[in-house]
Amino acid sequence: MRPSAIRNILLPLLLLALCGCGGSQSGLNPKGIQAERISNLWWLNFWTLTSVYLAVSLFVVGAIIRGWKTRDQTAPPPVQEIPANKGLTRAVISATGLTVLVLLLLFLGDLFSGQAIHSLSSPDAVTIQITGHRWWWEARYEHANPTNNIDTANEIHIPVGRAIQLKLVSNDVIHSFWVPNLHGKKDLIPGHPTAMWLRADSPGTYNGQCAEFCGHQHAHMRFKVIAEEPAAYEKWIEAQRQSAASPSTEGQIRGQELFLRGSCVMCHTIRGTVANGRVGPNLTHFGSRKTFGAATLPGTPELLKRWILNPHDFKPGVVMPRQSLAEQEAEWLVEYLRSLK
Ligand code: CUA
Repeated sequence: MRPSAIRNILLPLLLLALCGCGGSQSGLNPKGIQAERISNLWWLNFWTLTSVYLAVSLFVVGAIIRGWKTRDQTAPPPVQEIPANKGLTRAVISATGLTVLVLLLLFLGDLFSGQAIHSLSSPDAVTIQITGHRWWWEARYEHANPTNNIDTANEIHIPVGRAIQLKLVSNDVIHSFWVPNLHGKKDLIPGHPTAMWLRADSPGTYNGQCAEFCGHQHAHMRFKVIAEEPAAYEKWIEAQRQSAASPSTEGQIRGQELFLRGSCVMCHTIRGTVANGRVGPNLTHFGSRKTFGAATLPGTPELLKRWILNPHDFKPGVVMPRQSLAEQEAEWLVEYLRSLK
């Protein structure tokens, strides 16, 4: 093979393969007990199947070489005259037995991993209802007293070391919740609520992605799971439980007026105001989120302004309509929304 072929074909393929290792959105970089179990099963399969592949390749190469060496000899006797070869019979029986053992090993690994994944539960679990929408994620933190429930979107905070129960629902089409560093995929099926349990064992921000094609913006239906120390998590929960901050500057006041007078209230909730819509994400603490547009855009003032004026520039097909506002009005709205910490 020419060196240029190695450079142009083999190297990129190798790099592509290595892209699958590690990283903040990889099942091979587990940061929680469920992902750890899945990754252990993956490595069991990988090493077992690699060994089988290498062993079979060795025998094939051996057979080819033997074939070459005996090529010039006289023709073999007719089939019916070949004497019974006890060694060969034993080899075939051993290989068959070994194959059954390997399949049994993989089957048992699969069985025990599945059982272990379903064994995670805890009476003091944090329960979050995740609703898949086209194309964003709603997260409702359930409390024994429903007035203490918290609604947020796309950025899901969880405490490290504690079991989390995610109740998964969808009201439109099938989505799939997948945060590879913490767990495998689970579909959200309309009319068929389901659940998954996970636990993050080290703090960090883990990227998630809808993993079931759900329409135009499926690829832009992302989310983040932010695993933090219990104290930081409790602080976050306490802040989220508060009603929205009141506007304090001239721009924020004008922004709020525009929000409440315009069409925004039809779709969004800001707790503490008359805005009570349920079509789009709850914006009560919008300013505390780092991203928007289902975790696809950083929450900078410029991008937010452009989004408000025409979200279809970023996500064609999104439910939110373009707003006929002056630039200055959009800037006031941005100032208000960013003040909702
Ligand atoms: Cu939701 Cu793909």
